[in-house]
Amino acid sequence: MASPKPVRKAVFPVAGMGTRFLPATKAVPKEMLPVVDKPVVQYAVEEAKEAGIEQFIFVTGRGKHIIEDHFDHAYELESLLSAQEKNRELDSLLEGLPVSGSVSFTRQQKPLGLGHAVWCARHLVGDEPFAVLLPDDLLIGVPGALAQMIEAYHKVGGGVIIAAEEKSQEETRRYGVVAPGKTSGNITEVKGVVEKPEPKDAPSRLCVIGRYILQPEIFGELDRLEKGAGGEIQLTDSMAKLIGRMPFHAVKTSCERYDCGDKVGFLQANIAVGLKRPDIAPALKAILKGIEY
Ligand code: G1P
Repeated sequence: MASPKPVRKAVFPVAGMGTRFLPATKAVPKEMLPVVDKPVVQYAVEEAKEAGIEQFIFVTGRGKHIIEDHFDHAYELESLLSAQEKNRELDSLLEGLPVSGSVSFTRQQKPLGLGHAVWCARHLVGDEPFAVLLPDDLLIGVPGALAQMIEAYHKVGGGVIIAAEEKSQEETRRYGVVAPGKTSGNITEVKGVVEKPEPKDAPSRLCVIGRYILQPEIFGELDRLEKGAGGEIQLTDSMAKLIGRMPFHAVKTSCERYDCGDKVGFLQANIAVGLKRPDIAPALKAILKGIEY
């Protein structure tokens, strides 16, 4: 088996309006809302970096320029912290920073769906495999979710890999849902995938979560700009068209997933990540114990 082409690029669709978090997201992009002390989008970038990604491609929209600022140097702040010898704070700024020339931004221009957002990155991705990370899905674990998927990608010899999780029958209406084939360990063959089915029509309870490794052939499908579930151009529909043309697998990672696109999921993420942080956990535990509900 020839070894598959390495995955060097990652696309971060960050153009969503964040209407579920209004008024917080009136002037602040939802991807910049913090989980403890880091914006949600930074977790996804760190996960990608850890997995060996070298190029970070953001598909943004109007009002999202502070994401661009966040992944750039803040010289005044850095020199102030340096002069004050606040090294810990300074390190926290520098650690998350991708190297110069490794970050690019393009705009989706129209809110036509996830498939359209990924299609907008086609010229930046070019003719090679790439990852897609939806920052709303915060995945916490060691190794990170994308690193586990890349390991699976090499194990099965390439093709398309998605992260997946079992959900309740009722919840399948909120996800892409897999028609599963054979399973070996944490890797399941994908025979079909359908976006947001009615629970009674769901082919299984194995749902797609926001991490993908895709091949450039996906752009040939996305080029058709066909609308699917909810009248949007769905990534799921174009992935489904690749079935039979290349290997397609779902990976259950060992990571915990928090849905930061949802208010309760976002609060859960803050508490869960806070409880894993040695600097915060003791005080947070004490407060949580004292809360009556
Ligand atoms: C998107 C995808 C869906 C996937 C989900 C995971 O949906 O279209 O297939 O299951 O992300 O979070 P969205 O949540 O953007 O509606």
